Amino acid sequence: AAKAARNAQPAGPPSDGPAEDTDSCRRHGVVMNQPPNQAPGLNVPSFVKHPKLVAWVQSIARLTEPAEVVWCDGSAEEYDRLCSQLVAAGTMQRLNRAKRPDSFLARSDPDDVARVEDRTFICSERQEDAGPTNNWMAPARMRAILQTGQADGSPALFQGCMRGRTMYVVPFSMGPLGSHIAQLGVELTDSAYVAVSMRTMTRMGKAALEVLGSDGHFVPCVHSVGAPLEAGQADVRWPCNPTKYIVHYPETQEIWSYGSGYGGNALLGKKCLALRIASHMGRSGGWLAEHMLILGVTSPAGRKYHVAAAFPSACGKTNFSMLVPPRSHAGWSVTTVGEDIAWIKPGQGGRLHAINPEAGYFGVAPGTNEHTNPNCMAMLARDVIFTNVALTDDGDVWWEGMTDAPPAHLIDWQGRDWTPQIAKETGAKAAHPNSRFTVSSIHNPVLDTEWDNPEGVPIDAFMFGGRRSTTVPLVTEARDWTEGVYMAATMGSETTAAIAGKVGVVRRDPFAMIAFAGYNMADYFQHWLDIGAQLAAAGVPQPKIYCVNWFRKGADGKFIWPGFSDNMRVLEWIVGRLEGRAGAAENAFGFSPRYEDLRWDGLDFSREQFQSVIGIDRPAWTQELVLHQELFTKLSLGLPAELPATKARIEQRLAA
Ligand code: OXD
Ligand code: MN
Repeated sequence: AAKAARNAQPAGPPSDGPAEDTDSCRRHGVVMNQPPNQAPGLNVPSFVKHPKLVAWVQSIARLTEPAEVVWCDGSAEEYDRLCSQLVAAGTMQRLNRAKRPDSFLARSDPDDVARVEDRTFICSERQEDAGPTNNWMAPARMRAILQTGQADGSPALFQGCMRGRTMYVVPFSMGPLGSHIAQLGVELTDSAYVAVSMRTMTRMGKAALEVLGSDGHFVPCVHSVGAPLEAGQADVRWPCNPTKYIVHYPETQEIWSYGSGYGGNALLGKKCLALRIASHMGRSGGWLAEHMLILGVTSPAGRKYHVAAAFPSACGKTNFSMLVPPRSHAGWSVTTVGEDIAWIKPGQGGRLHAINPEAGYFGVAPGTNEHTNPNCMAMLARDVIFTNVALTDDGDVWWEGMTDAPPAHLIDWQGRDWTPQIAKETGAKAAHPNSRFTVSSIHNPVLDTEWDNPEGVPIDAFMFGGRRSTTVPLVTEARDWTEGVYMAATMGSETTAAIAGKVGVVRRDPFAMIAFAGYNMADYFQHWLDIGAQLAAAGVPQPKIYCVNWFRKGADGKFIWPGFSDNMRVLEWIVGRLEGRAGAAENAFGFSPRYEDLRWDGLDFSREQFQSVIGIDRPAWTQELVLHQELFTKLSLGLPAELPATKARIEQRLAA
């Protein structure tokens, strides 16, 4: 189908004539200002001052042949206009204005619901620079597939792929505007859904272009849903293509994404730029791009600390970053700087400082409720784009876990009738397990006052947590930086619905970056060791490193640790350790709290229960260490010697 569509009659290149230019400009309220050397049809507005950007847009328009080009200014009017267009096209529907003001529901194609890791490529010149954990293809071969056409005569996927569609030019800043840690990007996309989502997720539009100026650097990002329209052909609700490519050229800092309109595949500032390309930039620039939330935690004494915490996708980063302390912990507060990505650089005095490169949250809806994340429920009261959740009969949204009892009738994420009885009989979910909300961080009731600080916030501790029903203790403090890097590097986690594929399988997910490191994972480990060594050499305190696991299960298959707000008890212990107050017992892996080292008031949690979440099961760990070795064998090329050495020490301690 894709091929047939690619061979369709062109709907007209962007240079088709002044009549269409004028018309489209009037429609989009854009002021024409064409330098003489510029092909007509690009509709370059007067606020664009960057000749190289214009030339690049022109070259991509020539390749993809959109019917028109629209430059996004990031205004509220533009957002409203595009949302109305999406409603008219059937991609989104407006929710009940009284219940969920200014909010929409989008339903994707049932085959375009999650990140596609097996279609994600790191195209470095040398395969060993992508490393064994990434899909790799030589850049020239990939460019032939995407841009230039193949030797057998097959056309390039991007050739004419935007025919009949609008190409949106979406300039954005990842990070506070003008911050020395921030980066600029421009995404060209034929999806209005992507354009509106980028306004929420990034600092998008004129303001980003102002920072870019006339010759600033930007990361070029090209996105197409891969569904060109022939003249007169009706569009579908969610255009996409069964063939998908999410491609990164780290050395030239380019991103090309084809075939998907969903989340991390399509909002290219997020996983593609802020993690894969940025991790590569950070390696040479002496900084870190991490799959981490950033939170502020303030003690009753008024002392504030910042923690950056890595968890794999759909393992509770959003909930943890917005945690409401239990009543027993009155006087403590948790505030959110970021909930998915952190860029971390030495700042004032050499200490590591972190910014959240994003401006909004693209969070997993199922499981979110007044108990697990009341702040998030408040944040979702208005101004949200929901994708693939269920629709209630009164025009609001619902997802599994939102309320104890489901409504008697819903329209499910695929637009079908859903009742609890149908669910019982068929197992059908009302909301897709990876259904999402897209919301601006300014609606977060516990947004940290420093969230937009261009200098970032100083990091006191790192946490790493997988989803493990067995083996890994509730919390362990590494004895030193190297041991912390070892813990993070060998992290395993059970897979979730955020990734297309099997759910619930334990896989190694080093630093929660298995899908996001834009270069060889062994070199990435070395980079972390180097950063630690750099801090030590400069006499700057290294953040302490903790390994956590909220997800151990009992024989009944239920989670033992209550999690959510009670994770405050672990955070309190960590703050106590940072202040040198909290006690701990040393074990094979580092330091863990004894029962008496955590505060239990307000929670009925026995010593036995605590033992079952903190205990180290020797046979399970012997097996676990075999898996660490498998990872090290896979990454043997360039693996830092400190890691197998740390493993050997752990083995000795375990045997002792
Ligand atoms: C995300 C993910 O969307 O990690 O944040 O999948
Ligand atoms: Mn994520």
